[in-house]
Amino acid sequence: MQNFHHIDSLREALNVHREQGKTIGFVPTMGNLHKAHIALVEQAKALCDVVVASIFVNRLQFGLNEDWDRYPRTLKADSEKLAAVDCDYLFCPDEHEIYPNGMDEQAKVIVPSMANVLCGASRPGHFDGVTTVVTKLFNIVQPNLAVFGVKDYQQLAIIRRMVEDLCLPVQVVAGDIVREADGLAMSSRNGFITEQERPKANQLNRSLNDIAEALRGGSKDFLALEKAAEKQIIAAGFKPDYITICESHQLQPAAVDDVNLTILGAMYTESARLIDNVSVTLSS
Ligand code: PAF
Repeated sequence: MQNFHHIDSLREALNVHREQGKTIGFVPTMGNLHKAHIALVEQAKALCDVVVASIFVNRLQFGLNEDWDRYPRTLKADSEKLAAVDCDYLFCPDEHEIYPNGMDEQAKVIVPSMANVLCGASRPGHFDGVTTVVTKLFNIVQPNLAVFGVKDYQQLAIIRRMVEDLCLPVQVVAGDIVREADGLAMSSRNGFITEQERPKANQLNRSLNDIAEALRGGSKDFLALEKAAEKQIIAAGFKPDYITICESHQLQPAAVDDVNLTILGAMYTESARLIDNVSVTLSS
C-alpha cells in the first residue's frame, strides 16, 4: 500500500490507473479503523480495480464542544489494517492540505433538506462539514464508486442526495452495519464507553429492535413507541438524544401509510454519543 499526504501526488498516481481504464473505489474515514471500516474497504475491492482509503479527522464537522481533540488518532495501526486487506492507496492529508485557506471562509456544500434534523439538530453544522469534506475528497480522488457505512444512516442519505443534486459522477454504495456479539454497532467512539457502561451499551440497539418488531406487528402509534424506547434507555442509565421513526429516503417523520421505515436513534453515555438505526419494510 502506498501512502500519500499530498493531493498532487495522489492524483498523479491515480491518473495512471484511470488512463488504463481501471475503476477506482474510495472509502473515506476518520481513522481508528475497526472491522466495519475494513469491511467497507473489502467491499470496494470487490467492486473496483483500485481502492483508495482516506484518513482525515475533519475539524469542520465537529462542534466546538465536541470530541475533535480526543478523537483517537491511530495511524500506524490503521495503516497496517489497510495493508493487510490489500488496500492500494492511503491518503492522509494534514489540515492545511484540505483547507489551505482556513475553515472560516471555506466554500461549503449544504444539503438543507436533511442536514438539520435528527443528528443535525443536536450537532449544528455537522453535516455541512461532512458534505463539504466529502465533496473535496471526491474531487481529489475522483472515484467511480465510494462506500459509506449504513451505521451513519443520515450521513449516507445526505451524501446520496448531494450526489444527486450536484450531478456528481460517483456511485454511492452502502456497507452493512457490523455489530458486536450483543448488537452494539461498531464505532470508533465505542472506545469511550466505560467498562461499567459496556454491558448495557447495546440498549439503543435493543430498543430500536423492539420498535421494529412492533412496526412489523402492525403498530402505528409511532410517538408511543419512540417514548417507550426513550424510557428503556433512561432505565439502562443513559440519556436519549432522539429516537425517531422516519420514512427511509427523505428522513421525514414516518406517516402511517409509509412502508419503508428506518428507526434512528442516538444516546449519550457518560462520555460518548452513540448512534444506531434499524430499517423495516412493511408489506403495502
Ligand atoms: O463517516 C466518517 O468517518 C466521516 O463523516 C467522513 C465520511 C469520513 C467525512 O469526514
